[in-house]
This record gives sequence, structure tokens and C-alpha cells, in this order.
Amino acid sequence: MTDQFFDEPRQHSKIKAQIVAKYFPAWAKIMAAQLRPGGSLVYLDLMAGPGYYDDGSPSTPILVAEQVLANARLRGVVRLVLNDADPVHAAQLRAAMEGLPDIPSLKQGFHIYQKEVDDGFTEELARVRLAPTFAFVDPWGYKGLTRALIGSLVKDWGCECLFFFNFEAVRRALQNPLVDPAMEALFSPVRAAELRTRMPSLAPAQQEAEALSQLDGALMEVGAKYVLPFRFHLTAPHHRSYHLVFVTKHVLGYTIMKEVMRDLSTRPSLIDGSFEYVPADANYPGLLALLSPPEELAPMLRRDFAGCELQVRAVFEQHHIGKAFVLRDYKSALKQLLIEGHIKVRDPLAKKRRAGALADDLVVCFPPAGG
Ligand SMILES: C[S@@+](CC[C@H](N)C(=O)[O-])C[C@H]1O[C@@H](n2cnc3c(N)ncnc32)[C@H](O)[C@@H]1O
Repeated sequence: MTDQFFDEPRQHSKIKAQIVAKYFPAWAKIMAAQLRPGGSLVYLDLMAGPGYYDDGSPSTPILVAEQVLANARLRGVVRLVLNDADPVHAAQLRAAMEGLPDIPSLKQGFHIYQKEVDDGFTEELARVRLAPTFAFVDPWGYKGLTRALIGSLVKDWGCECLFFFNFEAVRRALQNPLVDPAMEALFSPVRAAELRTRMPSLAPAQQEAEALSQLDGALMEVGAKYVLPFRFHLTAPHHRSYHLVFVTKHVLGYTIMKEVMRDLSTRPSLIDGSFEYVPADANYPGLLALLSPPEELAPMLRRDFAGCELQVRAVFEQHHIGKAFVLRDYKSALKQLLIEGHIKVRDPLAKKRRAGALADDLVVCFPPAGG
């Protein structure tokens, strides 16, 4: 697989790159507003690849660089730190970055490293205090991916991480005693042992759910507060799943990433007849509690907020963690409840409002249960 990886982007690689390239500028614009004068933000790509596929398509670091270069504020504050252990990839990446027409306008510049991401690298990272950083970790298989690495990437203020999790490679590794140390470094010795014991008796979909749940637990143990997975599912004949896993301590990042993933999800439709992009679903009980269809939200809100009075925005903020719904789902559900007469909405400011819009600061009144 690795030999052909950079021939041309496969569908799931394109979606993967789009998730990063859409999330990073959205996150960076918000973080930039909170920076002290002279402060910077970092895009850290630890396994960045050569920059372009052989067919000339740009890959993740180039797409991110283009987004940064297109925005005056981001050009001033973002530092691009790109790494790849492969000397050829690192050299190609340098040439690719130097070839970007506006690259001289990047005030903080870009930095290319050629380091192996291993235990020593992780120990170094654990010792330094990072500027607000969005880190992307995209290994071949699970090589170099450890919970200590993710923990050291998210330990500092404003730091988040997105990594590629190859469930198929992990599933095979859990059956191979020779790579026990790698699985223990990823899940923890206790969790890896639990997985080895439980996996053989589980159906494939449950195996995936179990691995994701254990991964979620392992990430929480190293400092994560919110974990958001996005699944690339290859349907028959492959039946293989890959995941992008987003890890943050900040609800804002979680909220933005959920929007980005949701926009790029084609659930339940299929692309190319073979891929399906789904956010976490009900198979991941410890992770996202569920992926209920949006039509289930309205009755859920009536039940969960019975007798409450609160702003539209507060309904969303108090309810969406651990669920697949985004703000627009909440607004649609509330509009539906309003039309059906199940809630009342009042405007504390009696402002002139756009007809049909449900502004964030309107107050929603839910009748008591059974009312
Ligand atoms: C899946 S590719 C990355 C693709 C890239 N994210 C993109 O969007 O084009 C993995 C890259 O990571 C590099 N790599 C793999 N293991 C590594 C490690 N332990 N440390 C540093 N680089 C590594 C490989 O040389 C390869 O270029």
C-alpha cells in the first residue's frame, strides 16, 4: 500500500485532507483573535508526506498552506512545521513549499524537519511547552502512533490533534504477539490485554466499536476531554474501516470539528459505490453516545428540557456534547417544535428579526413534562 500511496489521492485521502484544510483555518481564525501581540499559532504535520501526489494533486500540507496564504491575518501568525522521516519526502516537501507563489508572505515562515516520530521524539515533545498548535498525525498503519504522543500534543493550552487510525492494521496487530509493545503504547497494557481477550468473540463491527471505545478511554487518560472520530468505511468486498480521530480539551474545537466532519460526511449515501463517510455511530457507546437521525432531536429536546426556559444557543451548548447533532439541527428541531405548538419562543430584547430565523439569543420556553 505504501508504495502506491502517493500515485494519486484515493477518495478517503481527499476527504481526510479536506477535513484538515477546512478545520485548520476555521480554528486558526478564532485562536488568532485571542493571541497576545507577537504570538503565533502552529500547524504541525508530523508525517507530512511529499506535498504532492504523483498525479500533481496537492496533499494535506499544501492545502493547509494555501488556506493560510489566502488569509492576511493567518499569514501573519501561523507557523507551518512539517516533518517526514523519509529524506526523499522531506526534500520533495521542501521544494513543494518553496514553489508556492505567495510563500514569502508567510511572516512566521515554514520549517521542514526530517525526524523519526518515535519514543525519543515524544519525550522531547513532552518537555517543551507548545504554542497553540493543531497537530496532524498520519502514519502508515500504527507505526509511531502512541497515546503518549497524542498526550504530549494536546497537553498545552490551545493544542489539539487529529490522527489517522487504521483499524484493520490494529486488528491484525492485536493478534500478533511480536507487536504487543506497539499496541500497549497505543492503548495502554491493560486496555491492549482487554482487547486481545475480547476481540476473538466479537463480530467485526463490534470489534471496531470495542477498539474505538478502548482508544477513547486511553486518550482520556492522557488528557483528552473530547474525542471525535470520523469513519471511512469501505463496503463490500473490502469491509475495511479507517478513522480520523480528533482530540481536544476545548469544546469550541469540538464544535467546529463536528460541523466540518458533518459537512464532509455523505451518510447515508455512497461515493464511488464503495466508500461511505460516517461520523461515529451507535457502535461506539463510550465515544459518541449515538448517531440518532436528526428527526429524533425534537422529541429528545422536549424530554430533556421539559419545564426549562433558556436561549436557543444554550439549548445547543448544553445538549450537543457526545451527540452527532450540530447547531443547524437544533435550530431545525426548535422551529419544528414551534410550528407544532410544543414550545414558545420569546424575544427578551424585542429586536427586529429576520422572518423565519431562530436567533441564538431568543428564549425558548419548554412546557413541563406532560404539559
Ligand atoms: C500516510 S503518509 C502521509 C500523507 C500525508 N498526510 C498527506 O496528506 O499527503 C505517511 C508519511 O509519514 C511518513 N512517516 C511514516 N512513519 C513515520 C514516522 N514514524 N516518523 C516520521 N515520518 C513518518 C512517511 O514517510 C510518509 O511520508
